[in-house]
Amino acid sequence: MTLLYAGLMSGTSLDGIDAVLVEASPGGRLRAHHHQPLPAPLRAELLALNQAGGPNELARAAMAARDLAEAYAEALAALLRAAGVPAPAVRAVGAHGQTVRHQPALGYTVQLLDASRLAERGGIDVVADLRSRDVAAGGQGAPLVPAFHAARFGQAGTPRAVLNLGGIANLTLLGADGSVRGFDTGPANALMDHWVERQLGLPFDADGRWAAAGRVHTGLLTALRDEPYFSLPPPKSTGRDLFDAAWLDARLVHGPGATPQDVMATLAALTASTVADALQAHAPGTRWLRVCGGGARNAHLMQRIREALPGVDVQDTGAEGVAPEHVEAWAFAWLAQAFVERRAGNLPAVTGAAGPRLLGALYPA
Ligand SMILES: Nc1ncnc2c1ncn2[C@@H]1O[C@H](COP(=O)(O)OP(=O)(O)O)[C@@H](O)[C@H]1O
Ligand SMILES: [Mg+2]
Repeated sequence: MTLLYAGLMSGTSLDGIDAVLVEASPGGRLRAHHHQPLPAPLRAELLALNQAGGPNELARAAMAARDLAEAYAEALAALLRAAGVPAPAVRAVGAHGQTVRHQPALGYTVQLLDASRLAERGGIDVVADLRSRDVAAGGQGAPLVPAFHAARFGQAGTPRAVLNLGGIANLTLLGADGSVRGFDTGPANALMDHWVERQLGLPFDADGRWAAAGRVHTGLLTALRDEPYFSLPPPKSTGRDLFDAAWLDARLVHGPGATPQDVMATLAALTASTVADALQAHAPGTRWLRVCGGGARNAHLMQRIREALPGVDVQDTGAEGVAPEHVEAWAFAWLAQAFVERRAGNLPAVTGAAGPRLLGALYPA
């Protein structure tokens, strides 16, 4: 019988939970995917908890972790229903939780999730808290997806790159020699979603159509690109701790005359240009880039990335048979498998950890 693993991912975009059911690697295929939006009050509370300084944070964090576990359990149940698979057939579920703080330099990263509750509801072994051990070993705890990108998309002899456009963008560099590097390049959907929400009351800019009709404001783009994070050497990772509404607001003064739509176009240009800079700086010979994450559905952003990288074959991961919204959740199912098989999940060359480490904590069914 084929061993099955589930992955449950909710990223910094806070759009919802991506759940996948996959066959064990290597060579496993995806059996089912389910996307479940976060309940609006929970989403709002998680966003609020991303900001330091609110009242009674400890109790609110615990309650949000509890509610998120219930939402994860629903997503998992819906996934298994869609696949027609009973819970005992799944060996383990890798559950990411919701990042509300990410400060690896201070020795911590916080992913909220009441994993005990998910084990209680789901009846499947849960592997959670997948980032802390890498941070304890001196690493960034992020990105964790490059090892999976290498396993799934790598090809010996050819330099390749994989870009995940989530709330934050992260780039994986697969060297022709089999080396794997990776780091967060900077903001992607988190700032764009915030802006379109604030200006139009929409959760995101479908296909980037609104941005596409705006004009890039050069002065504003320069001010945004002036952020020191972009020129920091890897290993590096970031999140809403840095790239939040306040970060954007502090720079809007540099965009006199920019309409809200121009700001949106400029934010898309920021993501495209910081990704292109990162690729050119760290892997200039790469001519093959595959894009995953929800941002791969943003046609305007994809177009901007292509323009910023002439000569590079830029397509979404669908071209390799894996839909863009499946990749990250699959990576966490893959990390759960690594845990079960007692294999290291991190790549020290990516995260900067002192060595390979077993990632995650087990919450038995
Ligand atoms: N059709 C689309 N057009 C533009 N943007 C999209 C589209 N579909 C998804 N997105 C973007 O992708 C985001 C979700 O991406 P995701 O990979 O789940 O990020 P995260 O891992 O941060 O949750 C949404 O918030 C939205 O910004
Ligand atoms: Mg998401």
